[in-house]
Amino acid sequence: MPITAAITAVEGYLPDYILTNHELSQMVDTNDEWITSRTGVKERRILKGKEQGASVMAVEAVNKLLKKRGISAEEIDLLIVATVTADYIFPATANIVSDKVGAKNAWSFDVNAACSGFIYALTTGAQFIQSGAHKKVVVVGVDKMSSIIDYTDRSTCVIFGDGAGAVLLEPSTEGYGILDFKHQVDGSGRVHLYQKAGGSVKPPSIESVEKKEHFVYQEGQAVFKVAVKQMADVSAEMMVRNNLKPDDVAWLVPHQANKRIIEAVARRMELPDSKVMLNIHKYGNTTSGTIPLCLWEYQGKLKKGDNIILSAFGGGFTWGAVYVKWAINS
Ligand code: UT7
Repeated sequence: MPITAAITAVEGYLPDYILTNHELSQMVDTNDEWITSRTGVKERRILKGKEQGASVMAVEAVNKLLKKRGISAEEIDLLIVATVTADYIFPATANIVSDKVGAKNAWSFDVNAACSGFIYALTTGAQFIQSGAHKKVVVVGVDKMSSIIDYTDRSTCVIFGDGAGAVLLEPSTEGYGILDFKHQVDGSGRVHLYQKAGGSVKPPSIESVEKKEHFVYQEGQAVFKVAVKQMADVSAEMMVRNNLKPDDVAWLVPHQANKRIIEAVARRMELPDSKVMLNIHKYGNTTSGTIPLCLWEYQGKLKKGDNIILSAFGGGFTWGAVYVKWAINS
């Protein structure tokens, strides 16, 4: 059998601070009923403290991952971090994580694909396993969304949260792991969801700060419509081209942006709620973190051989789906 990239361990990390809908309703004109019915979010985690970047959460997740698998950081060949809230514009957050966990023999880089970041990074990492170039690849999805959210903008601040998840990829010759993927972009969608300043088009200035252009700008409805269509289409296509009927799929692992989007994708795939991983009520949208955090939380329910579809849509626009055959019994 050809080499495939199996997920052999998964871990997650969430900061302690819980920002509830009740607390948000004291900060902006909103309420628990609106947030719950329109998004599904009840609470989200926030990384507090001075100069605490996304890498803080990524390092925690990776250290736990290494411990769980019983390997040393020096065995890692490649470490990829998916994030839109990098510690710095440069160098890559992956380099900081590699340094802090002691991955002395690894090379590393960041992937920026917004909410599709984790699945893009996962399939990228898988290529290095499948080619035989590497034996151990760590893929992290992490975002400190609280660092780019305007907590006076009720339409964005209620959705997002902070968190990190990480997986280890290793070779399988028994047909487990990442078996198929489809990723797509439509760059013309960038105007509906982005951070207006801070990059080379508009470097930081007093004006850009005053105009709040370093925060997430999102036209919610425009993003919602495309997200439902593209996430549902690509997830259904992943089933069709791998001859998977609804009964053959054990789990859908959807990006957690809005419970209504998740429900629409599951309906299109003809999957019951019982096969859909969901933790948006507890953590909100952690951007690159949502999918590995779902895998982490549900791993006790996953069985070796389970067919799993990962699916995401995000800023860019970016979207895609990945077909994974689960490789381990927890
Ligand atoms: O993560 C990847 C990409 N992102 C997404 O997938 C997000 C996609 N979009 C969404 O999830 C939804 O569009 C939102 C949750 C962002 C917004 O929900 P919506 O149902 O599309 O609301 P809306 O923006 O159409 O606003 C409806 C109303 C407006 O009031 P009026 O104009 O009808 O009087 C808003 O001002 O709801 C109001 N509103 C709120 N009310 C209470 C917006 N945010 C809030 C709020 N609390 N937090």
